[in-house]
Amino acid sequence: MNDLLPADAGRWRAMEQAFHTACERAGFGEVRTPLCEYTELFVRGVGETTDVVEKEMYSFDDRGGRSLTLRPEGTAGAVRAYLESVAGSEPLARWYYLGPMFRGERPAKGRYRQFHQLGVEVYGDGSAAVDAEVIHLGATFLHDLGIANVDVRINSLGSGDARARHREALVRYFTPLRERLSVDSQRRLGTNPLRIIDSKAPEDIALRVDAPSMSEFLSDADRRHFDAVQAILTRLGVSFVVDPTIVRGLDYYTRTIFEFKDNSGALGAQNALGGGGRYDLLIEQLGGRPTPAVGFGLGCERLLLASQGHTIAAHAPSAMVIGLAKETETDVQAEALALATELRAAGVVVHVDTRFGKADRQFRVAERHGARVGLIVGSAELASGTVNVKDLAARTQRAVARASVVNVVRTLLAQPLGQGAA
Ligand code: HAM
Repeated sequence: MNDLLPADAGRWRAMEQAFHTACERAGFGEVRTPLCEYTELFVRGVGETTDVVEKEMYSFDDRGGRSLTLRPEGTAGAVRAYLESVAGSEPLARWYYLGPMFRGERPAKGRYRQFHQLGVEVYGDGSAAVDAEVIHLGATFLHDLGIANVDVRINSLGSGDARARHREALVRYFTPLRERLSVDSQRRLGTNPLRIIDSKAPEDIALRVDAPSMSEFLSDADRRHFDAVQAILTRLGVSFVVDPTIVRGLDYYTRTIFEFKDNSGALGAQNALGGGGRYDLLIEQLGGRPTPAVGFGLGCERLLLASQGHTIAAHAPSAMVIGLAKETETDVQAEALALATELRAAGVVVHVDTRFGKADRQFRVAERHGARVGLIVGSAELASGTVNVKDLAARTQRAVARASVVNVVRTLLAQPLGQGAA
């Protein structure tokens, strides 16, 4: 679990802001659900035999003896909120969320026990068009963050009894090979044979080469749906690869599933930036009316790792008021703070080192903040009703009448770097 310190908070906020903007523009509304839910919700929603539920949940009993779990993902809680809020009304809803999730996984680069997701969910729309729209939204967002090297992988898990028939075929295929499978996959054979398909163990990878593929089991309607998703993605300019080994780790998926993978190498083994898919049965399983749904989740920590080197957050250009005041010169100190307040009210980011004292140290502080403009106030300036305005990049300085300072600073900060002349 990581601390977020001020040096990185700006990049986080910029990423979150970009997500708010992208989602609101596409007609999604934000939801905030509790950080914990009844354990039962995740067991039934995410699936009893998934790694998340079997090994990774932070579950605890509250004082009333109820088992609660810190949310390992956002979909189950959002569905619960959807069921409680829209029961009986218009089924169509487009939601997005962002916030912390918790999984007790072995920590590694890009894998944490508290991590953050940005996600969207659409309820009440079973069309291929919305699958493509959601994938496009995710891909465009990654592109806008400056993450250029992204692989979009898609697959279809089918619907109805296609999945059950595929499952039976997998069990028939792997049972004679059981002894040669990894220990994990031997267990999965009895519980969740689909997961053998995305196992990372070399022995499993070799054995599954000839395993029956889901695509053989898709119904005509599933196939038409998947073809339409691909056609629309192509029209929207999203490059993608159909990858039959994508199965996703959570149980609720039907039909279209997808993953965004980072190809830059910046993430090492944890290169899944996000993933999602359609889950047409979950709402009914959790007690609602049959309602199709689709969504995705993106891992914020991984997005930031993958976008290192790209400027997500251009720091707002700022000014620093430098008060040349000894400890006893409270009139100069007050003037420095008053000037900062005025500038802030005019929308300028202003730093003040309220220890005041020598100019040198304050200029070093200004440099650390990347301030563009220094505003020097001492007893001489106070007496003459001026402020020394210094363009810290161009290293030029001039005295400006106190009443004009705000305008002069705003003009300076509005100029592109290198063109300022004080
Ligand atoms: P997921 O694939 O389990 O899907 O997680 C989505 C993303 O969350 C991952 O691709 C990864 O970037 C990030 N993530 C997961 N676990 C960790 C971790 N321990 N540390 C850092 N990042 C992590 C879901 O959670 C689904 N709810 C997505 C979805 C929404 N499907 C439909 N709607």
